[in-house]
Amino acid sequence: MTLIAPSLLSADFLNLEKDIKRFDGIDNLWLHLDIMDGHFVPNLTLGTPVLKNISKISPHKLDAHLMVKNPEDYIEPLSQIGVHNYTFHWEAVTHHDRLIQLAKEKFDSVGISLNPSTKVEEIPKYILAKLDIVLIMTVNPGFGGQSFIEGCVDKIKKLDQMRKENNYHFQIQVDGGVKNTNSKMLIESGANNLVAGSYIFSDPKKDYKKQIQTLRS
Ligand code: DX5
Ligand code: ZN
Repeated sequence: MTLIAPSLLSADFLNLEKDIKRFDGIDNLWLHLDIMDGHFVPNLTLGTPVLKNISKISPHKLDAHLMVKNPEDYIEPLSQIGVHNYTFHWEAVTHHDRLIQLAKEKFDSVGISLNPSTKVEEIPKYILAKLDIVLIMTVNPGFGGQSFIEGCVDKIKKLDQMRKENNYHFQIQVDGGVKNTNSKMLIESGANNLVAGSYIFSDPKKDYKKQIQTLRS
């Protein structure tokens, strides 16, 4: 079953607990935490005190997506909070292998994220073999509610092909503009893990469980 990771960036920040509780009883769900520093991307989002409180009330695994210039600085605080998956941006780091090693000591799952303009061929094989997640951004990171960039679909297909040929174990996660109108195509292209923000949260009157089902079907 495709894993769905609702992005809390589009949740109601004045009623976060209420919004998170609406996912109770839904399996194969991670809470996607978009962490931005105002440098790697032109936006600021969740800091450690808020994340700590989210972790106290969430029965779901926490998925940290670090859109920051210094992801290494977040290893210790995020591991103390009990984050499950730690994904950093390929473009933000010089010594990728070293960071992956450090993160693997603290997290069950470690991933890299690629901006729309970064080619999958840029990632060396020895790195791909170590990863639990490769996140393909289908918008330029920084904001929720942007339009899906169609040109990124070939990257998902290419990565899926590389995964099959080399027996890599990573999940392909897709983030940005994911909706019921493109989720089927994304799953068929190789995605196993879909992040969705505005699609799930845009209408608070809708049942989140149903919204998630429509992404999976
Ligand atoms: C964008 C974030 C996404 C974002 C997705 O930089 O990484 O997780 O919240 O939001 P939607 O689904 O609205 O594009
Ligand atoms: Zn994200």
